[in-house]
This record gives sequence, C-alpha cells and structure tokens, in this order.
Amino acid sequence: MKKYYITTPIYYPSGNWHIGHCYTTVICDALARFHRMRGEEVFFLTGTDEHGQKVEKKAKDAGITPPEFIDPLVAELKDVWRLLDISYNRFIRTTDSDHVAAVQKIYQKLYESGDIYKAEYSGMYCAPCESFWTEGQLKDGKCPDCGREVTVQKEESYFFRLSKYAPKILKLYEDNPEFLQPKSRVNEMVNNFLKAGLQDLCVSRTTVKWGVPLPFDEKHYAYVWIDALSNYITALGYGSEDDSLYQKFWPAELHMVGKEIVRFHAIIWPAILMALGEPVPKQVYGHGWLLIGGDKLSKSKLDAVKAELTDPYELVKRYGADAVRYFLLREIPFGSDGVYTNESLLNRINADLANDLGNLVSRTQAMINQYFGGILPARGKSEGTDGELIALAEGLFAKVEGAMNRLNAPEALAEIFTLVSRANKYIDETTPWLLAKDEAKRERLGAVLYNLAEVVRICAVMLKPFLTKAPALILKSFSCDENAGFDTVSFGGLQAGARVEKIPPVFPRIDIKKELAEVERLVAAHGKEAANKEKANASEEDAPLPQISIDDFAKVELKVGEVVACERVKKSEKLLHETVKVGEEIRSVVSGIAKYYTPEEMVGKKVVLVTNLKPVKLCGVLSEGMILCAEDKEGNLSLVSPEKPLESGCKIR
Ligand code: MSP
Repeated sequence: MKKYYITTPIYYPSGNWHIGHCYTTVICDALARFHRMRGEEVFFLTGTDEHGQKVEKKAKDAGITPPEFIDPLVAELKDVWRLLDISYNRFIRTTDSDHVAAVQKIYQKLYESGDIYKAEYSGMYCAPCESFWTEGQLKDGKCPDCGREVTVQKEESYFFRLSKYAPKILKLYEDNPEFLQPKSRVNEMVNNFLKAGLQDLCVSRTTVKWGVPLPFDEKHYAYVWIDALSNYITALGYGSEDDSLYQKFWPAELHMVGKEIVRFHAIIWPAILMALGEPVPKQVYGHGWLLIGGDKLSKSKLDAVKAELTDPYELVKRYGADAVRYFLLREIPFGSDGVYTNESLLNRINADLANDLGNLVSRTQAMINQYFGGILPARGKSEGTDGELIALAEGLFAKVEGAMNRLNAPEALAEIFTLVSRANKYIDETTPWLLAKDEAKRERLGAVLYNLAEVVRICAVMLKPFLTKAPALILKSFSCDENAGFDTVSFGGLQAGARVEKIPPVFPRIDIKKELAEVERLVAAHGKEAANKEKANASEEDAPLPQISIDDFAKVELKVGEVVACERVKKSEKLLHETVKVGEEIRSVVSGIAKYYTPEEMVGKKVVLVTNLKPVKLCGVLSEGMILCAEDKEGNLSLVSPEKPLESGCKIR
C-alpha cells in the first residue's frame, strides 16, 4: 500500500488562536483526507512547540510554571482542531517524554560524530523569534523576520557544523527540483542564505532552562528549533525502541509550512538529517499568509484588527466548519498571500456554497420529490447537452487529482464548482418544469433529473476531502453510502428507484449586510481578543465537572444575606463593594457585577453568599464572601435569591 506522511509545523502555544493559524492545518487535513480516500496509508502529524525563552518568560511573568501556562493553550488548540474536524494521527507536544528522549539521542549522535562542537558565541538575538542573526542579515539593525529589536548575546555554546552542508543543500535543490516549492522559495534560499555560504549554527542555550537538557552537558539546553524540527521524526519513534512507524513512513512526502519558516525547513532541517545519515523529506512547501489590512494576521497584530472577526471558535459557531474550511481552501491562491475579511468569507459562503451548491442540491431534490414522489427515475438516453455534462462529471476526478498532486486545493475546488455551475446551467437549458407539463416528455424529465442527481452525488464524493459535514448529509439524502470513496465516482453509479429525500438547505443564505453589522457589534463588544477567550471558557464550562460526594458539598457554607449598602470600587469598572448583613453579622463583600447592577439596585436585595471562603483583598477592598449569580451563554447575569422572603443568616442546604 502506498504511504503518505504529511506534517504541519508545530504551533507555539498562544492564547490568540486565529484563522491564520488554521490555514496550514486545514490544507494538510484536505491533503490527508484526499490521500486516504485514494487508498493510501496516511500519517498526518501536527502538534505544539512548547519549549524556549518566550514560554519561560510568560509563565514567570504570570507567576505560574511553564506547564501551567501551556496546558490550557494546548487544550484550546486541540479544541480548534476538533471543531474544524482535523483528522491528525498524532498530536505531538515537544514536552512529550518520548520526544524529549529522542531529541537527546539526536544531540548525542551529532556530538559523537563531530557535527556538534563547543565554542564561544556572540550574536544578535531576537527573543520573540528565538533566532540568532549575523550583522549582515539584520534589516535596519532589526530582526529581518519580525522587524523587532535584537540584542547582543554572548555565551559558551555548542555549534552545529551547518557550514559544511551548504554545498550539499545546493546540490539537493539542483538534483531534486521538487524538494522546495513553490520555485520562488528556492531563489530566496539560494540568494539570501546559501550563496554567501552558511555559518555554523548555535544549537544550545544556558540562559533558557525550559527545554531539553543536552545529554553530554546538562548546563546546556537544546536550541528550540532543533528540538522543534526533530518532532517530524521523533513522532514516528525515531531513536526509540520501537521505530516501526519511522521505518514505514519516513521520509515525509510533505512538510507544509508558512513561508516565514522555510529557512528552517529547507536549510537547517535537511542539514541535520544529512548529519544523522537519514533521508531528507521529499518536499517542503512554503505557503503564503492570510493578510489582514495588508499585514500577516498574527498574535501581535490582533490589536489592530478589531474590525474583523478572526477567532476560529466564533467563526465555526456562526458559519460551520465546512464554510470556514471552504474559505481557507478556496480563497487564497495557493503559494501566494491572500486577504482575509469577514466580507470575503461571507461572499464565498453565499456565492459558492449557498447559491451554487446549495441551489443545485435543493432544486434537484425538490424536483425528484415533486415529479417522482422522491423516487429516483431511470437514467434514460442521452440527448441535448447531456453528453457535455456527463463528460465533465466523468473527467472531474482526474482534474481534482491533478490539482491535488500539485497541492493546489483552490484549483481542485474550482474544478468541482465548474461542474456545479454547469449543472445549474443544465437545469436552465433543460427546463424540467416545462417537461413536467407534458406527459409525453416524462421519460426525458426522468433522464434530466437522473443526470442531475448523479452530478450532485459525484460532487459530494469529490468534496469529501475538503468539507467534512455537507457531503455526508447530501450523500445520505440520495440514499448513498456516506463513506463512499473515489472508486464510486464514475457516472451512472446511482440506481433508479433509490429514495431521494428533500433536506433543509445545507448552507443557508446569509444576509451579508445584517451579518456584517452583527459581526462589527460583536467584535466591538469583545474587544481585541475577539471572542476567543470567552469561547474557550464556554467550551470548558459546558463540559460536566467530575462528580463530588455529599461530604465535598458540605464543605461549602452558603447563607442568605441582605445587601444593606453598596458602592463602586474606585478605579475598577467591574467591581461593586457590598455591605452584607448575614444574621447578626456584617460582612464586606466585593463582586464583579458592576456591569450588570448599579449600587442603588443592589441595596435591599436578598442574595446567596458563600460565607466560608478565605477572605481576600480585591483592588484593596476586603472581600469576605462570594455572592452567587447565574449567567447564560449570551452573558446575561442574574443574582440568585431565595424564592420566599427568608431572614438573612438562614443556612442554605
Ligand atoms: N513553532 C514554529 C514552527 C516549528 S515547526 C518545526 C512556528 N509556529 S507558529 O505557531 O508561529 O506557526 C504555525 C503555522 O501557522 C506556520 O505554518 C505559520 O506560517 C502559520 N500561520 C500563522 N499565522 C499565519 C497567517 N496569518 N497566515 C497563514 N499562516 C500563518 O512557526
């Protein structure tokens, strides 16, 4: 069986997962699904890149450990992949113990072979990019990748003999024109880096402790890029007792990466593999970026993009996984940058999915139901433009396959939608509603509807690598197996007599003007982080908590309290300071409800108070309890009060 090993880069843990992050992974998912449907054994790898200075610092600043900082972000990313139906085979984390052990083995091997040696290093370091640069590589004295300030860093370090591999990498490009794609990236690598020769690469740090310790010198930790790049082989068990997956799947067919990290994948990574004596991947593809307002959509730019909704949770919730996947796969010319706006997303959904595809499906189903009681008529003989339509449908697989062999999902989708449009035109040409008026033309009407149903079925099967929900719904409504593969796409597969259901629109039309106004309101309300955080919390909160015993519950003391005075907490928009009478006792309580209740409204209210929480100071004000509230998904908040007028101080059990 043919194998196909495809990888995304591993992601830096970030709280602001945005639609730009989804681009690489959705493309890889479509490719993985396509190859699986072609009967190949696919291994699709993705994951997170968790070590390094950035994480160490962020965790320290937040007063928590790196794992405490990273784990929720990784859970969020996995949640995004779940929502987008990403069918990975392994999600590797560079903190996984098997990965750490294998990275140590890789360093040990390179050290023993002399490809890693010790020397003093002084260089210009960009902390956010975790990259060292030479003076000559800086752009206006700043990091050439991100444009931020660099600092001089000196340390005794281990170096990898990258210089030795420059001629070998050039030869690799010459002998294997497919190795690095698109072509323009080869010129970038050759002109900007390889032509001038390569310098040896500093591959250890002593200042950063959140990383993989080197086995031959524990004061030193692995350089994050070597740690990260190694994931492509450690995920398969390289360097472990069981390397059967490695034996089976390496070298990878494809490393799909954003263009800003091509240098690491097309120069450093093959050099490391050559030094290890392992084969290099068959291809590295450097795709373009999703731009927003002319810039790469990125964590640091999210502040500036208040006008656009970029949060994958919110986008999937509003439009569905298929629409988001479709946009990413169709809109951006492959290999180039593409602009992201909510309007372009909505236009794509309406024009292609709701109008072209949606109309074809619903008109076909409606007519089969109206004229044939939902039972598929017989194929009949070809006439008029039938031949043209059928030829297009018959030729579709080859065209999609050709495009996907060139990794060009936008072109593959364009081919499918050419057939969809042709079929819509065929309806206008054949005018089934007129045929239906003439009993003598009933056979012809049946043939027309059969041809349409067949085109819909073939399109649904061909769409399966790209969309994960709609094709199954469509196939089921035509009584077809939703697991149908590419072996079913020749014309004529549908059996006359099959039941055809009329289902609600798979992609309802969106009122774009109204929706854009709503999105604007939402983005303004949620501010720069869009709805990202809130959605993450919502999905965590929706998950049921583990069961507790009655003894656990009995540890919480709840009492009825009466608010006797209330004021705003100075310098805080969120907090109110209540004076609460609990029986004979008076308590000072601070609660985050200033957006929902005025101090005046609060006075006189009977509330439910947790009375045995440890007192804390919030904005300098003592809080000796917590007032309970209920909150719905829209963020509406209500105090919890006893239903009958009970005295304050009553116990709640
Ligand atoms: N951790 C490194 C990769 C190490 S691989 C051995 C890294 N991580 S990242 O989180 O910054 O990026 C992950 C992927 O998301 C990259 O392919 C990157 O190009 C992609 N994108 C992030 N923002 C993007 C856009 N705005 N548009 C398209 N893809 C972009 O780099």
